[in-house]
Amino acid sequence: MCGIIGYVGAQPATPILLGGLRRLEYRGYDSAGLALQEAGGPLVALRSVGKVARLAEKVKQELTAERQATATVGIAHTRWATHGAPTEANAHPHFSADRKLCLVHNGIIENYRAIRARLEAKGHVFTSETDTEALARLIGEHYQGDLRKAVGQALAQVEGAYGIAVMATAQPGVLVVARKGSPLVLGLGEGETLVASDASALIAHTQRVIYLDDGDIATVTANTVDIRDRHDVLREREVAELGLDLGAVEKGGYEHFMLKEIFEQAESVGNALRGRLDTEHGTAVLAGMGTSPRDLAELQRIVLVGCGTSLHAGQVGEFAFEDLADLNAEVQQAAEFRYRNPLVGSHDLVLAISQSGETADTLAAVREAKEKGALVLGLVNVVGSTIARETGRGVFIHAGPEISVASTKAFTGQVAVLLLMALRLGRGRRLSLERGRVLAAELARLPELIAQVLAQNDAIAAVAGRMAAAEHAFFLGRGPMHPVALEGALKLKEISYVHAEGYHAAEMKHGPIALLTPGTPVVVLANRSPQLDKVWSNAEECKARGARIIAVVTAGSAADTIADDRIVIPECDPLVATIPAAIALQLLAYHVARLRGCPIDQPRNLAKSVTVE
Ligand code: AGP
Repeated sequence: MCGIIGYVGAQPATPILLGGLRRLEYRGYDSAGLALQEAGGPLVALRSVGKVARLAEKVKQELTAERQATATVGIAHTRWATHGAPTEANAHPHFSADRKLCLVHNGIIENYRAIRARLEAKGHVFTSETDTEALARLIGEHYQGDLRKAVGQALAQVEGAYGIAVMATAQPGVLVVARKGSPLVLGLGEGETLVASDASALIAHTQRVIYLDDGDIATVTANTVDIRDRHDVLREREVAELGLDLGAVEKGGYEHFMLKEIFEQAESVGNALRGRLDTEHGTAVLAGMGTSPRDLAELQRIVLVGCGTSLHAGQVGEFAFEDLADLNAEVQQAAEFRYRNPLVGSHDLVLAISQSGETADTLAAVREAKEKGALVLGLVNVVGSTIARETGRGVFIHAGPEISVASTKAFTGQVAVLLLMALRLGRGRRLSLERGRVLAAELARLPELIAQVLAQNDAIAAVAGRMAAAEHAFFLGRGPMHPVALEGALKLKEISYVHAEGYHAAEMKHGPIALLTPGTPVVVLANRSPQLDKVWSNAEECKARGARIIAVVTAGSAADTIADDRIVIPECDPLVATIPAAIALQLLAYHVARLRGCPIDQPRNLAKSVTVE
C-alpha cells in the first residue's frame, strides 16, 4: 500500500523525506513523489515512476542545493496504484486547482467519480486518473485560509478510506493530516514533527509517537500538535514509545530482509512464547485475552478471520482449537466474512489475525463481528495498529518489524500464539494436565527445533537448485500440514513468480493430477503423523506420473523409496511441527527466488499491507 512521510521542523526536509520513503519501500509501490513548502514561495513538487532512487536523482537534477537546504516543510509519498496506471501524472502529491495546496493520500476515495464530475462541471480540468486528485481539488474548493477547516469540510463529503497529509502555500510551517481506515502515526521530535503511514519511517528521528484514530484531523507544526476527533472535539491522544531501534528495520548483513526475518524465527517465536508458557500446569498465560475462565469455558465456537498468510495461520489454528480445546472452530476469509451476514453472536469468539493490523478486509471483519455482539480478539504483530486498537484486546506476537512483503516470522509467530491459545482454552475445558504439560514442553522446544531447520539452509538451497527452473509446482499436505502446504505455495508464488498450487494431498487425484508432467516438482509434507501412510500413497500417485517428489520428512523416519529430495525437520508434536515445516518451505521458496534473480523483498504487484478492499 501507499507510503506517506511528512516533516515540519528546522532541518532541510528533502533528505528526511527521501530517507522516510526508503524506509517505506518495503510496503511495495510503483511511483513516488514529494512536495516542499517554502515560506512565501510556491509549493514545489517532483514525481517519478519507479523506485525512490529515481526520485532522488530527479531531486538532485531539478532542485537547487539552496532550495533543498531552505525548505524545511514537506510531504512525500510512495504510490501503489489503485486508480490509474503507475505514471508520473498519477503519482502523488496532487494539487488543488490553484496549486495553492497539495496532498498525499493512502487509501481509496470510493465516491471520487461523483466528486470529480461535480468539479469538472464547475470547470476543473483534471490532470490525472486518480481518486486523490479529486480530493485535493475538493479541499481547494473549500479552502479560504483555514486548512484544517477546509480538509474537514471536504472529508465530510468523502466515502472510503484515507490517510492524508496536506499543506498550503498560505500556511507555512503547517501540515494538516487526517485518517480513516488507513493508518497515520505522528512522530514528536525536538523542534520537529513528522507524520508517516507506519512507524518504521520515524525510527531514525524519534521514539515518541501518537497513533491517530479513525476520524482524527491533526494540525501539526514543528512544536505543536492539535488533534480533533470526528466531532471536531479537541482530543489528547496518548504519546507512545516506539521501543524499536534502527537495527530492527535494517538488513543486518543479510542479502534480503526476507532471509534476515527467516533467520530471526528462533528468536521471534521465542518472543511470542516468552512469559506465556506454564509448563508446570501445562497451560498458557495470555493476559491479553482479557476474558475470564468462565467466559472462555462458555464459548461455543471460534471463528478465525484473516487474509493470505494470516488466513493460513488461522487454518492451522482451526486444527489446534478442535484438537486441544474441543472447540468448534472455523476459518473464514476476512473479505467473505463481512459480506455473508455472518452467523456469530455472544457465544462466539472471533479472532482477527493480521501481521500489519491494517488489512482492510480483516479490519472490516472485526467491525462486523463487533456489530454482531461476538467476543472479538486480535492476533496482531504491529502494536498501535488499527486492528489492535479496535479489538481492544488480544495477543501480540512480538515478531518485531516484518519488512519483507512475504510474511515469514509473522506466520510462525501467529501459529505459535494460536497453539498457546488452544492450550489455554483446552486446559479450561477437557484437556488433561498430562497432555497439557506434554504440549507445553513441546512448545518450549520451538526455538531449538527452529534452529535445527535453519541449520539446513545450504541443503535446502541445493534442493531449490533442482527445482528452480520449473514453472509449476505443487505443495501437498494433510491435517494441519495442509495449510502449511498452502502457505508454502504462496511463498513460492509471491517471491519467485512460479505458479505453485497448495492442495490437500488427497485432492490431487480429484483433478489437479492432470496437470502433472514429467519433472513437475511436488513438495510433500511427509512428517510423522497419523496420516503419513496416506501422504506417501498420494506422493506415489504423483511419482507414477513423472513428478519429482520433494519430501519434508521427520528426522529418524523410515527411509522411503519415493522422494527424489528430502528436507528433514526435527521430531515433535504434529501441531508444533507446522512451524519447522513452514520455515523449511520459506527457505525453499527464498532460494528458488534468489536463483531466479527475483527482487524477493518487494515482489512485483505486491504490497506489504493491503489497506484497500
Ligand atoms: C504474505 O506473504 C502476503 N504478503 C499477504 O498474503 C499477507 O499475509 C496478507 O496481505 C495479510 O496481511 P496481514 O497479516 O498484515 O493482515
